Amino acid sequence: MTAAGRFITLEGGEGVGKSTQVAALAEALRKRGLDVLVTREPGGSEGAERIRELLLAGSEERWGPTAEMLLFSAARADHLEKIIRPALEAGGWVLCDRFVDSSLAYQGGAGGLGLDTVRAVNQVAIGDGFPDRTLILVLDGGAERARTRDEGGGDRIGGRSHDYHRAVDAAFREIAAAEPERVRLVDASGSAADVTQRLLNAISDLLP
Ligand code: TYD
Repeated sequence: MTAAGRFITLEGGEGVGKSTQVAALAEALRKRGLDVLVTREPGGSEGAERIRELLLAGSEERWGPTAEMLLFSAARADHLEKIIRPALEAGGWVLCDRFVDSSLAYQGGAGGLGLDTVRAVNQVAIGDGFPDRTLILVLDGGAERARTRDEGGGDRIGGRSHDYHRAVDAAFREIAAAEPERVRLVDASGSAADVTQRLLNAISDLLP
């Protein structure tokens, strides 16, 4: 992405403490005097939030794999155009809780569509709007903890099988290996403060 600001995305499977870290990283960046917009996917713009409801509620059979992937991509195109690009062009930093790599890992890896197919569709959806840096939180056993947490109350995707979530984790590691400049794996174990410091270290070359 070539704009004045920096575009950072946080990714990870279920139960890695991502929400806590998005907030903590935003605070740490603001303390450095940066103007930070925090947003999330699916959602983040009015239209994308409507699509989020369609994607996360309802029965597992509501969408097949291809329709699900296209809906995530449609939401992303709107979110990028309406919210993310304008903030970056105004010189701000954007910190987004999940983005294109979630589609690659969930729909492409675990969902069976393949990373190449999902990458091609998202290339259409976002063009050059790839993040400057993607931080993937990894925690051994995270998927197992989340499965327990979501029991009986998970959304359409969070509530999927243990095998699905293991495949998500494997795909995230594959993506990081394939794009080492953009994508970094960050160990999510230890105290929240330790994890935040690791995230800051993984973007230190981008900080002013
Ligand atoms: P959310 O409640 O935001 O979960 P989390 O706290 O795990 O981020 O739900 C988003 C769910 O949607 C989550 O299970 C991951 C999934 N997802 C995809 O499958 N593909 C995508 O492209 C995105 C952005 C999310």
